[in-house]
Amino acid sequence: MKVGLLCSGGDCQSLNAMMTSICKSIYKVDPNCEIIGFIDGFQGLEHGVYEQYNCTDFFDLLYKGGTVLGTSRTSFKNIVKSNRTIKSMMNTYYACELECLLVLGGNGSHKTSNLLAQRGLNVISFPKTIDNDLFETDLTFGFPSAFDVASQVIECIQSTANSHARIFMVEIMGRKTGWLALHAGLACQADMILIPEIPFKKEDILEKIKNRDHTKAFVIVCAEGAISYEDSLLSRKELKDKARYTHYRSVLSDLKYIIKNELNENVFINIPGHIQRGGQPSAYDRLLVSRLGSYAGKMILNKEYGNLVAIKDGKVANVPLDKVAGKLKFVDIGNPLIQEANDLGISFGNEEIFLQKR
Ligand code: F6P
Repeated sequence: MKVGLLCSGGDCQSLNAMMTSICKSIYKVDPNCEIIGFIDGFQGLEHGVYEQYNCTDFFDLLYKGGTVLGTSRTSFKNIVKSNRTIKSMMNTYYACELECLLVLGGNGSHKTSNLLAQRGLNVISFPKTIDNDLFETDLTFGFPSAFDVASQVIECIQSTANSHARIFMVEIMGRKTGWLALHAGLACQADMILIPEIPFKKEDILEKIKNRDHTKAFVIVCAEGAISYEDSLLSRKELKDKARYTHYRSVLSDLKYIIKNELNENVFINIPGHIQRGGQPSAYDRLLVSRLGSYAGKMILNKEYGNLVAIKDGKVANVPLDKVAGKLKFVDIGNPLIQEANDLGISFGNEEIFLQKR
């Protein structure tokens, strides 16, 4: 049997570990299985660029960060636009005589997986992203490791910020959702957490900073995609124009400018960026990929194709790809973590949301 394997989208610490787990479980059902590893994700499938492996070639990658196959972002819009791309992918699949294709990817990748499944290919997807924002799965691999790194960064900033009683903002990855910022911010008991799902009010932020204990630091954990209440009311185009024609460059620089102007206070900005996706996978991430990967062999044996392997209520479960493709899992205001953070005195830069709940 020949099984295709590819990593798609932004990388994370546990992609190699996920492939180790998958290959071990496939080996258990077919020790002679050949793995066709497509280089740089769907691009490799499209252009027929791959390497041939045995399952055992992946056995020693459990602790190695990143992906030995490489990965790339492939725009789903472009794939849909040109029928040629999808046809080339299908041609490679058939030319390689694959039993199935295993895709390790995030939201965009599952749209492509779903399209290929609809065209008749045998596809199984695995939920990767440090953002933890995939629909129909409680957890995504990559998130636990990124959570550890983001928390370490915040912890380091808190230590230096405390020495100088400084105001710091730490930007945590997550353009559309705030899972990583929320978890890391709560784990470090930051003073404020700003996430895209709770548009912040500038007045509330200023009020908190003004009334803080001036002998202590004030650390704001800000998701990449955090947005002000006024901006959340703008259309996409209006937002783009605003970024183009004003001093406004990012939420962090905007807030730094406002805090300086209104309170005459300096704000230090720290952006760990891709550090959050780098290094070795954490133990919890390795546990997660071990559980998800252990289903690969059985699923192939039972021909359970067209599914995402997910974690639901603590158990590994199959979710049909057409149920998850193109959908994001957002932080709900009713999420217990929000209230728990609020009960510890952590602000979300918007006091109204808690008044509404009462
Ligand atoms: O989707 C994962 C993610 O790390 C996001 O948190 C981040 O906004 C984005 O990827 C960065 O993408 P790139 O590596 O392509 O700059």
